[in-house]
Amino acid sequence: MIKRGRVKTGIFGLDTLLGSGLWSNSVNVVLGSAGTGKTVFALQYILEGLENDEKCVFVSFDMDIKDIEETAKSFGWDISKYINKKKLAVNKFFAENVSYINNDLLNFIQTEAENHENVRIVIDSFTPLISSLDYGMRNDVNWFFSRLKELGTSVITLEESLGGNMEKPFIEIPIFLGDTVIHLKNIGYGEAFNRTLRIIKHRRSWHAEGVFPYRILKGIGIFIEGTAIVKKMIRHINLKEILEELGYSISDVPDGALQRLNAFSEECVQCSDDEIKKIVQMVIECYSKYPKS
Ligand SMILES: Nc1ncnc2c1ncn2[C@@H]1O[C@H](COP(=O)(O)OP(=O)(O)OP(=O)(O)O)[C@@H](O)[C@H]1O
Ligand SMILES: [Mg+2]
Repeated sequence: MIKRGRVKTGIFGLDTLLGSGLWSNSVNVVLGSAGTGKTVFALQYILEGLENDEKCVFVSFDMDIKDIEETAKSFGWDISKYINKKKLAVNKFFAENVSYINNDLLNFIQTEAENHENVRIVIDSFTPLISSLDYGMRNDVNWFFSRLKELGTSVITLEESLGGNMEKPFIEIPIFLGDTVIHLKNIGYGEAFNRTLRIIKHRRSWHAEGVFPYRILKGIGIFIEGTAIVKKMIRHINLKEILEELGYSISDVPDGALQRLNAFSEECVQCSDDEIKKIVQMVIECYSKYPKS
């Protein structure tokens, strides 16, 4: 079994919202309509890896290699030097030539990932590739994602239509199958909460709840606001202390309740101290009223 660690996203403020980042060997979806910053997200994710000497692979379905380099350059990011050093492999694929998740694509990623650990993989965007697929292809996408997970940690961008319609199979399949799904939104009124980010899911981990405003800034890239508030709300649970405050000693707590509360206290939560106490109290009460044999 793969031992998972955390992978930093490179997006300012995001790792806190994800409980210290993405899981390694996962496939993560960034969903958003045109101009929400999906490509910027992808580039920033890659840049984080490059700056830490990690091997990165960037597959594009809509931009030429030169376009990608120029987009990065417009932010003041020099990815060309990493391409020259072969730390970053970039390739453009044409959806018209890809009748299905084709071998060339996987071969390219596989060849580049060979002999490297913790490879960062980007597919920007996945939409042209799967837009002709129906639900029957779910297994193929599943299979492709499994191969990607063996090779490293992927960020796959997905286009949402401007009307926000997510009810098309080709949009839904990667969302169902992705380990983490991040939704970028741009209302376009040019005010606070103009651009917002929300974590739709983050498998096997806590994540911050809520809608977080972000900006796209030259040099910085995507910068998420409001993470300081989340940081303030995050509590590390000291179960022993809470039990004492509630007037329990460990021996009073039924075994089942203790097991669950111990697991609960391993992760931080976005709760007030009072809420945590209420949760602990209720679990103990439930186990006391209905003791499990
Ligand atoms: N050099 C720059 N400096 C600051 N902001 C920029 C810069 N370049 C782009 N942006 C901002 O980023 C937005 C585009 O982001 P990006 O290309 O990542 O969107 P996208 O979601 O990939 O769009 P598409 O669906 O068209 O591919 C622009 O509309 C602009 O607001
Ligand atoms: Mg783009």
